[in-house]
Amino acid sequence: MQTASIMFDRDFTIGETDPRLFGAFVEHLGRCVYGGIYEPGHPTADKRGFRKDVLALVRELGPTIMRYPGGNFVSGYNWEDGVGPVKDRPARLDLAWFSTEPNTFGTNEFVDWCRAADVEPMLAVNLGTRDGDAARNLVEYCNHPGGSAWSDLRIRHGWKRPHGIKFWCLGNEMDGPWQMEHKTASEYGRKAVEAAKMMRWIDPSIELAACGSSGRNMPSYGRWEDEVLEHTFEQVEYISLHTYFNNYADDLPAFLASPDIMDRFIEEVVAIADGVAARRRSHKKIMLSFDEWNVWYRTRRKRADRVKEGWPVAPPILEEIYSMEDALVFGGACISLLNHADRVKTACLAQLVNVIAPIMTQTGGPAWRQTIFWPFAQMSRLGRGAVLRAKVDSKSYSASYYDPRGPQDLHFPVEAPYLKAAVVADGEGGVSLFLLNRHLTEAMKVSIDARGFGKLGVKEATELQHKDLKAVNDSKNPLRVQPAALKDVRAARQGIVAELKPASWNVLRLTP
Ligand code: AHR
Repeated sequence: MQTASIMFDRDFTIGETDPRLFGAFVEHLGRCVYGGIYEPGHPTADKRGFRKDVLALVRELGPTIMRYPGGNFVSGYNWEDGVGPVKDRPARLDLAWFSTEPNTFGTNEFVDWCRAADVEPMLAVNLGTRDGDAARNLVEYCNHPGGSAWSDLRIRHGWKRPHGIKFWCLGNEMDGPWQMEHKTASEYGRKAVEAAKMMRWIDPSIELAACGSSGRNMPSYGRWEDEVLEHTFEQVEYISLHTYFNNYADDLPAFLASPDIMDRFIEEVVAIADGVAARRRSHKKIMLSFDEWNVWYRTRRKRADRVKEGWPVAPPILEEIYSMEDALVFGGACISLLNHADRVKTACLAQLVNVIAPIMTQTGGPAWRQTIFWPFAQMSRLGRGAVLRAKVDSKSYSASYYDPRGPQDLHFPVEAPYLKAAVVADGEGGVSLFLLNRHLTEAMKVSIDARGFGKLGVKEATELQHKDLKAVNDSKNPLRVQPAALKDVRAARQGIVAELKPASWNVLRLTP
């Protein structure tokens, strides 16, 4: 049995979690939209075609903001194709995923779906094949009350009230050669700042995110952020980050350590953004939008393989099936995001349904929760409040994480404490702890010293673990992996002591 301790004080905070930290992502990709959130004719579909079984799971998952319509898809998207009478909308070849996009679901349907799911819509504009003109027209279409060509068109399409979209992404992964009309940092920076300026002239209340690197292992990483922010600094509030964890190397300790590289990534981008501010003697703090993150590696495919399959509508691609071990890594990423609540103000789990997703569906059939559903739902429910600066004492291990994503194969050395933890005070005298035991064979006795809270009792304690780390949920056994009560948690003389199983994700809620 290992021992570890965690100490925190109610007055020592990192920052408040922004509600947008608990976001997710819907892309026109595979069966995320068609057969996922939208399936007219499904037994649970409402009259708009929204699957009510999926909506119920989305509400349970608890995302707060939803990014749309991509992703790679947005870099070739004509938003005008997705509005107006459905019978008049064109089918288009989508060069991001080599699919046919029927355009029967578009911006207005998405906003209606968001209202039904009780989430804030977040839109990305196409800065690949299109430019600032299409972007500003979309802002006018969505947010202008009326009396102009684009806003009146929205009204004629049946949406009298403006959508009031606040959060806008200026393109997607524009540093990636896989992107339609990918750009150098200066080409993108110029295009983004001009688009941002016009979009804001239409609606000064919007918030804008510039594209950061599509991964920390991109060759241009660092220089890209610096140059893009040099152009866009005055016009944007956020810079984006994307990360997908993998276990290609079949090295579980390294896979479990990989969220610690997410910590570094965040801290490096903060440093770059603050460096740009310093050069300008500016007090402005650019915040981070971690608008794609998840585990993803088994279902990555080369473009050449996709081309062979022709141009299907909503093919079942990127349908990653998540195991117990993936849920642990995913939980580690939740902890990394919480612990940077001062600068990461928005984050989107990529994605929502079927495509690298916490929710799976059968077309015409049931919907169920993948293993990664649980840590997200718990983080969204209990992660609201002030993240505390916890002092964690635990043994650590050395790992080398292999990340072949992007143009270069890289090995990242990492020294990972076995216990990874985040602590969030709820503002009513209670506190939630998110605890990941990364030791594969040893349980861990954790002593919790909560200072400045008075006497706390255990209101809720759950563990997510399974003797088979490869265990998954599926339509036949949808709850094989699910949280259970954590029994070994008790009040001791010095505080609370919890015993965590090997390879487990644990959540404690302590209240006065
Ligand atoms: O989420 C899947 C894809 O990953 C997105 O379309 C793209 O932005 C990223 O490369």
